[in-house]
Amino acid sequence: MPRDRHVNRALQLQRDPSLPPSLALDPGNCPIMRPDGAMKERLGGHEPPLPRCPGGGCPVLAFFADARAAGAAVELDVGSGYGRFARAHAAANPDIRLLALEQDEARVARCDVASRREGLRNVGWLAGEARYALEYCIPPEAVSAVYVLFPDPWPKDRHAHNRIFRKGNVDLLWRVLVPGGTLNASTDNADYFAQMLATMADDARFERIDPMVRPEAEKTDFELKFLGQGKTVNSASWRRLRPSC
Ligand SMILES: C[S@@+](CC[C@H](N)C(=O)[O-])C[C@H]1O[C@@H](n2cnc3c(N)ncnc32)[C@H](O)[C@@H]1O
Repeated sequence: MPRDRHVNRALQLQRDPSLPPSLALDPGNCPIMRPDGAMKERLGGHEPPLPRCPGGGCPVLAFFADARAAGAAVELDVGSGYGRFARAHAAANPDIRLLALEQDEARVARCDVASRREGLRNVGWLAGEARYALEYCIPPEAVSAVYVLFPDPWPKDRHAHNRIFRKGNVDLLWRVLVPGGTLNASTDNADYFAQMLATMADDARFERIDPMVRPEAEKTDFELKFLGQGKTVNSASWRRLRPSC
C-alpha cells in the first residue's frame, strides 16, 4: 500500500466514533512538534531565536499537569513503534502515566486505536520528533523512567548523529529525568550497545544499575522479531544521580 494511503487508513480508523476518546496528543500547529522545513533546520542547528513552547493548550503540558494533579509518575517510551511495550506496560502499571513518542504518524494512530479498544486511559501518544519533544516540550525533571527500546541503529557513519545515545541527546534525556529516575535501553545491535555503554560510562551524572527485566508481555514488537531471527538482545539501565548535599 502506498504510504499516504497507509497513513490515511490509520487516521480514518482513529476517527471511529464508537471508540472511547482519543489518547493521541494532538499538537495542532505547534511550531516545535509540527515544524516546517525551515523551522526543522533552526531546531536541529539550535539557530536562534528558537521558538518558545506556545504554552496554553499544549497537550503535552496538559498531560504532565494531569499526572501531577493525580500524583502519578510519568514514564516515557522513546520510539514506541507499534506500541506493544507501551500498551502492556501501561496496562500492568495503572498508577503511572506513559507518554509514547514516535515519529511515524500511522504507527501512532494505530497505537491510539489499539489502546482505546483495550480500555487504557493512562497512555498518551505523541507523533513527532522525539528530540524536539525532549528538548522543548517535556518539562524538566518530570519523568521517572525513560525506555529506549531497539532504537534505530543508524549504522552508517554519516547518519550516526541521529542516534539517541550520543552526547548531546543524553543531555536531553538527563534534562527530563527526575533525580533518581532511570534510563533503560535494549538493542540487538552489538556496535550500538557498545556505544551506549561507552557514552554512559563517560557521563558522571548517571550510574549504571542492573538492567530492567521486562516481563514476556512487555517484549516489544521489534524484540520479538529479532529474537525470532536468533539475534542476541542486550539491555542496560542507568540511574540519574541525585545531587549531593
Ligand atoms: C526499530 S523501531 C523500535 C520500535 C519499538 N521500540 C520496538 O522495539 O518495537 C524504532 C522506532 O523509533 C522511531 N524513531 C526513530 N527515530 C525517532 C525519533 N527521532 N523520534 C521519534 N521516533 C523515532 C521509528 O519510527 C521506529 O518506530
